[in-house]
Amino acid sequence: MPAPTPAPLPEDDLLFRLLRQIDVAPEGSQRVTAQAIDVSLGRLNALLRAVCDAGLVQITAKNGPDRRQKVSYALTPRGAAHKSKLADQFLARKFDEYNALHAELTGKALSPTALKNRTTTMAAPLHAPIPELFVSYDSAQKLKVEAGELPSWDLTARQVCDLELLMNGGFNPLKGFMGEADYNGVVENMRLEDGSLWPMPITLDVSEAFAGGVEPGQDIALRDAEGVILAILSISDKWQPNKGVEALRVYGADDIAHPAVNYLHNVAGPIYLGGAITGIQQPVHYDFRARRDTPNELRAYFRKLGWRKIVAFQTRNPLHRAHQELTFRAAKEAQANLLIHPVVGLTKPGDVDHFTRVRCYEAVLDQYPAATTTMSLLNLAMRMAGPREAVWHGLIRKNHGCTHFIVGRDHAGPGKNSAGEDFYGPYDAQDLFREHQEEIGIEMVDFKHMVYVQERAQYEPADEIMDKDDVTILNISGTELRRRLREGLEIPEWFSFPQVVKELRRTSPPRSNQGFTVFFTGLSGSGKSTIANAIMVKLMEQGGRPVTLLDGDVVRKNLSSELGFSKEHRDLNIRRIGYVASEITKNGGIAICAPIAPYTATRRAVREEIEQFGAFIEVHVATSLEECERRDRKGLYKLAREGKIKEFTGISDPYEAPTDAEQVVDTEGMDVDYCAQQVLLKLESMGLIKA
Ligand code: PPS
Repeated sequence: MPAPTPAPLPEDDLLFRLLRQIDVAPEGSQRVTAQAIDVSLGRLNALLRAVCDAGLVQITAKNGPDRRQKVSYALTPRGAAHKSKLADQFLARKFDEYNALHAELTGKALSPTALKNRTTTMAAPLHAPIPELFVSYDSAQKLKVEAGELPSWDLTARQVCDLELLMNGGFNPLKGFMGEADYNGVVENMRLEDGSLWPMPITLDVSEAFAGGVEPGQDIALRDAEGVILAILSISDKWQPNKGVEALRVYGADDIAHPAVNYLHNVAGPIYLGGAITGIQQPVHYDFRARRDTPNELRAYFRKLGWRKIVAFQTRNPLHRAHQELTFRAAKEAQANLLIHPVVGLTKPGDVDHFTRVRCYEAVLDQYPAATTTMSLLNLAMRMAGPREAVWHGLIRKNHGCTHFIVGRDHAGPGKNSAGEDFYGPYDAQDLFREHQEEIGIEMVDFKHMVYVQERAQYEPADEIMDKDDVTILNISGTELRRRLREGLEIPEWFSFPQVVKELRRTSPPRSNQGFTVFFTGLSGSGKSTIANAIMVKLMEQGGRPVTLLDGDVVRKNLSSELGFSKEHRDLNIRRIGYVASEITKNGGIAICAPIAPYTATRRAVREEIEQFGAFIEVHVATSLEECERRDRKGLYKLAREGKIKEFTGISDPYEAPTDAEQVVDTEGMDVDYCAQQVLLKLESMGLIKA
């Protein structure tokens, strides 16, 4: 028997009203639903059949307390996504009508950008709410139960940040993780498929294994690190991106010295999934809750206080006096209220952690007039993409109800490339922003570098100082500040606020009191363990901090006892060592690691993990293969040559020698004591141990 043909869907307006009614009142009786959307009971039945056939709505039946069967309707993830698509079309149509009416009354058409950015353009002057991707509370409860059955993906820290801003409208007009056409457009020319400006790929990268088990047309649950279901993704696209092209086009160079390029090649999965998101709940934050606001919460706040012009200040650093001056000047120039909008999601590896920063911001907030300034935390995962990032930040602030945005010198700069040069020019971000300002729909307040003029005891933009030769210009760079903190040196009053310096000193004690990791790498038999043991004893002799040795051989007997020597297992082994060392470093101890660690990317990942908490000193024990083989202290080289040990480093497996180790020691012709002394001198010169 042929399958029955599915009932046809009604026209969009009626379909939208039905889906919206089911979303707000899933338990509503048929009579109430029919009344709400103004159709007869018979018509409603036909409609329900059609939406169920199309997979937009699900019917569930359960016995009520009076034993009578109670039927309830719920939107499926696909239904929720379809509802928000229809809502968008509806709004766009309304704007067309409004535009036509405006033209009729005034004889002037609205500007073309208004049509393109209809939601934001309509919303900004009055701070009207912007669309979110969440379903109603009732539907969310139901979907959560149903999503338990779906294949699920555990989101990475970056993906959780992206999802939060997708769901709460911070990434409006995106409706989900990008599909292939949007991604290609964004990578190539900063435009979504429909032509709207969007400079940053927002993609869901997954492992090959996970991607192999799912297909477009399928729904998957997205969970946070604790397994909480935050959203459902209705997969529409699955593809393997060309990461080299993405790096080149989006970040300007395929160079892993750029943190986002490194992430792309060494952290992100190889396959991207795209599709609409149905938001179930926001990621939970336990820290600084009162300081976190969604775009609509901020818009409501501005509405309530009657703020019509708001200038946003984006930052990933503690605020010092130069920043205060810059924000004051920006607010004055734009005649606007001020929103300090620091990023607390992911910033550049090595930045001051957000807990410390927020304590610093709170301390400085007293220095701003409360009636004109507010602060809110933004859970954004930055990419450090300079010019493109500035445009992205502008769009995000626009969504948060701001009308102006400060773009300073080297906005979201990633630092130097592998050749030691800047990735972007200091004012490239301002140039790109200026080019797209109209379309972003937010005005740039551009600032040059602020410096302190001693004679006038005030901060001034460097390029506005006309009497440069007659005055003393003072400035402390970020690197210099870190050095002073590290070495416990004075930080002058003209530079920062005493409360901020106090907070920074609390989390960054002088280096000689901080934890650190010495990471030896080299071929088997190169002498790593011997030197590491000597260092351990010498450091214990000095006392002061606990010392732990994570020797390759020893780790393989306990922490990694089940692992072999494939690339995957070696990486896992090194990451475990890195994790333990990072915990030791974080808690003020000294970790000495001595594995082979043959892969550059894995060593780099460990470095990044540890450098969040303290210094990482890579020591390459550069004994040649010939010498290691000649010594063959464990008899392993002989067995490897005979093929009795497979995948042996240097013989039948690669060793990528470091090119940027802090210290290189060669054990050939040198005694252990001398080699250990070289490493100790290095630690001393870095201020990690006292002479
Ligand atoms: S890795 O690549 O960093 O995970 O290796 P690691 O854990 O440091 O290796 C520890 C010791 O294992 C012995 N061994 C091998 N090394 C290299 N390749 C193969 N296939 C192999 N099989 C066993 C070797 O003795 C390593 O110890 P060291 O102290 O480096 O000589």
